[in-house]
Amino acid sequence: MRPYPLLVLLTALFSCASRAEVVAEASSPGKVLRVQLSIDEGRASYSVLRLGEVVIAPSRLGFLLRDTEKLERNLQLASQHSSSFDSSWEQPWGERRHVRNHYSELRVRLSETIKLKRSFDVVFRLYDDGLGFRYEFPQQDQLSDVIIDDELTEFVVAEPATAWWIPAGEWNRYEYLYQRTPLAEVTQAHTPMTIRSESGLHIAFHEAALVDYSGMWLRRTEGQRFRAQLSPASEGWKVRRKAPFHTPWRTLQIADSAGGLYQSDLILNLNEPNVLGDVSWFQPAKYVGIWWELHLDQTTWASGARHGATTENARRHIDFAARNGFRGVLIEGWNVGWDGAWFGNGNDFDFSKATPDFDLRAVAAYAKSRGVHLVGHHETGGAVSHYERQLDAALDLYRALDVDVIKTGYVADAGQIERNDGDGRVHREWHDGQWMARHHLKVVREAAKRRIAINPHEPIKDTGLRRTYPNWVAREGARGMEYGAWGNPPNPPEHEINLVFTRMLSGPMDYTPGILSLQGRGQAIQTTLAKQLALYVLLYSPIQMVPDLPEHYEKHSTAFQFIKDVPTDWAETHVLNGEIGDFVTIARKDRGSDDWYLGAGTDEHGRMLPVTLSFLDPGRRYTAEIYRDGDDAHWRTAPFEFVAEQREVSSRDRLLIRLAPGGGQAIRFKALPMRSRR
Ligand code: NOJ
Ligand code: CA
Repeated sequence: MRPYPLLVLLTALFSCASRAEVVAEASSPGKVLRVQLSIDEGRASYSVLRLGEVVIAPSRLGFLLRDTEKLERNLQLASQHSSSFDSSWEQPWGERRHVRNHYSELRVRLSETIKLKRSFDVVFRLYDDGLGFRYEFPQQDQLSDVIIDDELTEFVVAEPATAWWIPAGEWNRYEYLYQRTPLAEVTQAHTPMTIRSESGLHIAFHEAALVDYSGMWLRRTEGQRFRAQLSPASEGWKVRRKAPFHTPWRTLQIADSAGGLYQSDLILNLNEPNVLGDVSWFQPAKYVGIWWELHLDQTTWASGARHGATTENARRHIDFAARNGFRGVLIEGWNVGWDGAWFGNGNDFDFSKATPDFDLRAVAAYAKSRGVHLVGHHETGGAVSHYERQLDAALDLYRALDVDVIKTGYVADAGQIERNDGDGRVHREWHDGQWMARHHLKVVREAAKRRIAINPHEPIKDTGLRRTYPNWVAREGARGMEYGAWGNPPNPPEHEINLVFTRMLSGPMDYTPGILSLQGRGQAIQTTLAKQLALYVLLYSPIQMVPDLPEHYEKHSTAFQFIKDVPTDWAETHVLNGEIGDFVTIARKDRGSDDWYLGAGTDEHGRMLPVTLSFLDPGRRYTAEIYRDGDDAHWRTAPFEFVAEQREVSSRDRLLIRLAPGGGQAIRFKALPMRSRR
């Protein structure tokens, strides 16, 4: 017999009956999204509705602070203010030229009713395709030195969902294969984390404008309830700031389709406008390099008999770039310090001193004579204070040699960044903690002063800061092509399709597509030849590497033509179809011509994707230069089966895109001259 059934029922009823009161609310401009702020016995929460349906159930807001009471209880609404904004801005480079920034804003001030009477603001910005909110800490005597032990922001997903995610707080930073699991089985995830609900709603959780704060991981606490878990600082807290300050935006992109997520400009819009002014000195471009041969272990970063970065080898690559119209040449391992265990031990690096077999000045002069630009390289091995001490000199050197893009590197296990404040102690920091957020911006700002663009590997995640600092042009921050060389396991066929709807939502990635030899170090790259071409369209970056060995491109000269042609800067971008992890087709219009490009890719399953060409400019005719999988192509058994063919098309035509298992397709729509009208 169950004891006291009535009492159990009454207690249950009582605790379910919400005493929460909605105290403020706002809708997006087209009334698609609605946010409600409630106070429930002094605790604040927000909920999100889309077209009247609850998407995010009441989710708590607040902080745990050091040496003082938590900032989460005894709250009341002190004031609220609504406003709206609508304007467009132009990207100096990007996936599209013009971006509309159209939102409604709700600002609420929450104040404690007793004791310390502290206050903070929560600002919501609502777009039709997503929202962001952030905390703002005003100046106040009771809370000036803010030490955040934990951010208590929650995200309670209302509907059962499937999630695509990588683990956060693990040693390999962002370099994990995406897992697809029920949302209720996620442990702790990096953002962007993308989910699809049972009713087909797609949501991507991320953040925008991560400045002087630590990166947010999503920790599942129960069911589909997630809490912000900030990347830790070596001091034991998560973040320390002086008020006034504000947090990054916590963002949710919300769409009916996976493609809708990719189309959203939410993250960029929530960042501050360009502070650098004219950045036309940065030129989106492709670059080759002494790179893949290192990953194949044909040559070494270390000096000695097999050293890759020799003057001679550099000249060979400069010639290859000049011959084929590529702007940049990256040379890794040219400087002193690569000889030890540089993994996690970068204190030997000298960023201004070349090895004896490499004549930096002569190589730079030769590049210049051939109309090619060197791409600089700074690998830190995670010894970041050591790098910072040399930063000015290292950047000045590159500036003097006309190097205007630098690839930086932070190879070290997560949590093992070496910080040395000169106090005789070594602090260990996370790649995405507050200290590294500051470091990255320091490098980007110092580089900008010298008109140099930055492309970090093993970076902090992208949160759209390229809008504010358009010299922060790309980064790694996911498993790149290099895993095809030595990854165990290598990247499977679905990997790049997963990236489009997860990692790529955050911004450009230096993935380094285009390994036409389809061969790593004793293992095959798990794609077809045509898919390697499609990746130049699918995985956006204003700088794209052409990474394979020159002799491999010469062997695949037909496919190579597409790599020579494809631009890296776009006027428009349209996702034509796509499902996370399964397939995707993207069309982009070249910024520098009337041509359009299309990339399509699939996972391990072959597919037929009908596509209407209505994105093409009406009334215009094009030669479609099609690079497709051959009829028997298969990533495992016949990856080189490949066909290049042409046909004339217009915006009224349809194409049936046939993708082999693990395959892809790339098309250049070359605009034909306009017929003059008589
Ligand atoms: C890892 C980077 O992803 C790769 O591109 C680079 O070659 C090595 N670090 C060495 O810096
Ligand atoms: Ca799949």
